[in-house]
Amino acid sequence: MQASPDTILDIQQIRQDFPVLDQQINGRPLVYFDNAATNQKPLSVINALTNYYEGYNANIHRGIHHLAEQATAAFEASRRSVQAFMNAEHWQEVIFTYGTTDGINLVAQTYGRKFLGEGDEIIISGMEHHSNIVPWQMLCEERGCVLRIIPVNDAGELMLDEYEKLLSEKTKLVSVVHVSNSLGTINPVKPIIDKAHEFGAVVLIDGAQASSHLDIDVQALDADFYVFSAHKIYGPTGMGVLYGKKALLDAMPPYRGGGEMIKEVTFEKTTYNDIPYKFEAGTPNIADVVAVKYALDYMAGLGKENIAAHEADLLQYATEQLSELDGLRIIGQAKEKIGVVSWVMDGIHHQDTGVILDQQGIAVRTGHHCTQPLMQRFGIAGTTRASFAVYNTREEVDRLIAGLRRVQKMML
Ligand code: ALA
Repeated sequence: MQASPDTILDIQQIRQDFPVLDQQINGRPLVYFDNAATNQKPLSVINALTNYYEGYNANIHRGIHHLAEQATAAFEASRRSVQAFMNAEHWQEVIFTYGTTDGINLVAQTYGRKFLGEGDEIIISGMEHHSNIVPWQMLCEERGCVLRIIPVNDAGELMLDEYEKLLSEKTKLVSVVHVSNSLGTINPVKPIIDKAHEFGAVVLIDGAQASSHLDIDVQALDADFYVFSAHKIYGPTGMGVLYGKKALLDAMPPYRGGGEMIKEVTFEKTTYNDIPYKFEAGTPNIADVVAVKYALDYMAGLGKENIAAHEADLLQYATEQLSELDGLRIIGQAKEKIGVVSWVMDGIHHQDTGVILDQQGIAVRTGHHCTQPLMQRFGIAGTTRASFAVYNTREEVDRLIAGLRRVQKMML
């Protein structure tokens, strides 16, 4: 077993913050390597949820009583935290959603339906999650738009020369993933955005996998829209963020109708609320929004750059160790990656790999990872994927490698 390099983070101490990690699965200590699907929650986030329900559960923006004011203040404090986290210029540009998928659908169904029509082109990439494919296909079907795809090279990187060839006066929207969930590739979103802007297209960045690993600065990126989910940044499930430039959000029609998103309702006519509330119909996930501030504080306390350095070490170590296994091929060898590694093994189905690893207490994800077109690009049905978070260790990578040797022994 190799020692971890010196790191500013005390990983054993950090692990104490995550109660779920301290358990045995199938008689072995849990190794949780499914962080790209959802990462685990620190006690501060769990306590924020409990404190809300035990101490000040109330509906927001509506009540004048003490608890309602307390809940509203906590809810809006989270918005300011997210604003700072993404470096949004205005707090009104932060819309709370149910997650990344919801944010993309919101843009497709409001901006898309209002501003895109027959023959307009939408560019996405060959490594998109289904959530950044299907909403645009639905829009294309309804509005007669055309979907164009940036191809992916053998290393799992976007082919930017091909992207430039796709851009034209017809391009109205570009929607690209910041970091691939299946391969870990970090895409060069700044030049992608700049090129799109030269043609007057707006750009949405799917930041689901980027937000817990990279610094997000929507102003520096000049992103028009940026979406992410709380549950992938050590926060609760069922809650996410859509950032949009104020002028765009102002120009967009509402998404869902209901309470909170209105100024005045009569049977003849309804006038809509200002942003962000125009897009937040109904009672939101108040507790989850409140708790997301604690997730952001937790990451800030550790330092995003320290988290990234630790995960980069795990990625490098895992890549080296995996490469030594006979008949194992890593899918996705981009120069810029976060801590995600995907592979296939000769003669062994990924599902068998997942089951046998689980028997040893090791949680990985197997399958197409909601990126079927990307799997088709590589001519495979799926991969086994290990994805790292701040609490993972080199010793756990050693467990994975030993587990895979056992898989090979059993299956071959
Ligand atoms: N999109 C999530 C993943 O990659 C669920 O696992």
